[in-house]
Amino acid sequence: MKKINIKYFRMSIMLAILLVPLTLKFTSLHEVKASAKINFADASASNNIIPKPLSYKAGSGKFILTNKASIYVKGKDDNETAEVRKVGEFLREKLRTATGYDLNIVVGDNVVPGSIYLTTIGAEADKGNEGYRVQTTESSIKITANKPEGLSRGVQTLRQLFPADIEKSTLVPAVQWSVPVVTIDDKPEYSHRGLMLDVARHFFTVDDVKRQIDLAAQYKINKLHLHLSDDQGWRLEIKKWPDLTAIGGSTQVGGGPGGFYTQQQFKDLVKFAADRYVEIIPEFDMPGHSNAALASYGFLNPDGNKKPLYTGTKVGFSSFMTHDEKTYGFIEDVIREVSQISPSTYIHIGGDEAESTKKADYDYFVGRVSNIVKKYGKTPIGWDPIDTAPTIDSAVVLQNWKDSNAAAVQKKMKIVVSVAKKAYLDMKYNETTPYGLNWAGYIPVETGYRWDVTDFAPRQLALGVESPLWTETISTVKAMDYMIYPRLLGYAEIGWTPKASRNWEEYKLRLKNQGQRMSNQNINFYNDPGIF
Ligand code: ACM
Repeated sequence: MKKINIKYFRMSIMLAILLVPLTLKFTSLHEVKASAKINFADASASNNIIPKPLSYKAGSGKFILTNKASIYVKGKDDNETAEVRKVGEFLREKLRTATGYDLNIVVGDNVVPGSIYLTTIGAEADKGNEGYRVQTTESSIKITANKPEGLSRGVQTLRQLFPADIEKSTLVPAVQWSVPVVTIDDKPEYSHRGLMLDVARHFFTVDDVKRQIDLAAQYKINKLHLHLSDDQGWRLEIKKWPDLTAIGGSTQVGGGPGGFYTQQQFKDLVKFAADRYVEIIPEFDMPGHSNAALASYGFLNPDGNKKPLYTGTKVGFSSFMTHDEKTYGFIEDVIREVSQISPSTYIHIGGDEAESTKKADYDYFVGRVSNIVKKYGKTPIGWDPIDTAPTIDSAVVLQNWKDSNAAAVQKKMKIVVSVAKKAYLDMKYNETTPYGLNWAGYIPVETGYRWDVTDFAPRQLALGVESPLWTETISTVKAMDYMIYPRLLGYAEIGWTPKASRNWEEYKLRLKNQGQRMSNQNINFYNDPGIF
């Protein structure tokens, strides 16, 4: 028998006596923590979905996806079934890479166990166009919505129910592709949940833009606003005026080669976005921010001479001639061509920082241009102070960046909230952020999340929220990712989830859990040490 060392035996007894109450204390603390966790279970244990769904009812057990699964699709008629099928194909592609499964798409509702079913039959009317129900059992996944658009939003939710490995860009062997048993009922608070990319200050390729659309769509962003012209560049082919791109598109901030989208490429972008139920809103900024056009054609200038190209970052020095019919003929050509290739209900006409245009001339100009946009069947949107022009009425939408919308409210104009100090993606997170600006202040992730659309616009006029990425200092995809992510998830949630259901402390846990997904998608997000 092993000899017991008396000295150590005594010490152990003493230690045990000392530790018992400590252990008890620790246990009770642990229990408190655990119950706190249970309060958060909705978010931290099983539901890490962003934006947070309206209702998440966890069941028990899980559905396991295998390579035998099919995706069943059925609409209310053949046309709709064809559209639902496209949503099914999108889901199949998102599941394909990591699982290695090539799932069958089957038209019909004769769903066999182990399968996924997407249908527009039997949804509650109050789900609207974008709402959906995701219902999973141990033997099936069913998504129901009134419209294929709602199914598409539901598919984005479903992706987040799978293990984060589902987002890897390579085959991931030996993972159980399980989804918790749950019923999710969901629909958005606001119809406008936008991301704006400034492709004028620095140009980004079709593939760069597609990647951003695809990434943003997973968080149910449904508008991509493209800022297609500014002092430094004109980025969309206009067939009647080819020098807009040949000259005006030839450079960018810092003097790089710039670039532009052909109309064919633009249509391709529109289709890529539409497949994700994202609407592309084209913007041509005027009467200021117009140097690229003035540098392309002499007739747009008072002296008949082209302006020099501009590759700096000052604002407020350029203006279209506001009382010259050549200007309006040119603008009508642009609006006509764009309206032919853009299915969006909107054309954005800029209207910000027209510091070289007299106020009366500005008012006249934005009224004229709004009428041209309306003539081609589109709704004009403009930045403030467009709302202050007497020529602008409630048929125009204000995109509010300065927290100054008294005229819009008085006229009952609809408002998209993009208040710079909260929503500008080009503002640095803090003083150490390597890209971006800080004229509207720093926007840490928390500041970006902790506000509501109704802080800045009456609920009945607010269409939603849009976060712009201006690119004076953003010239690479890496920098773009860093400024957009993770803040865009917060803006997506502000637009989707009612104010009463949102809470920073709880959101922070869900955001932390999105880190792995963003990494798996190779998003160069700002790895905020306070969150991840
Ligand atoms: C803006 O930031 N000039 C709209």
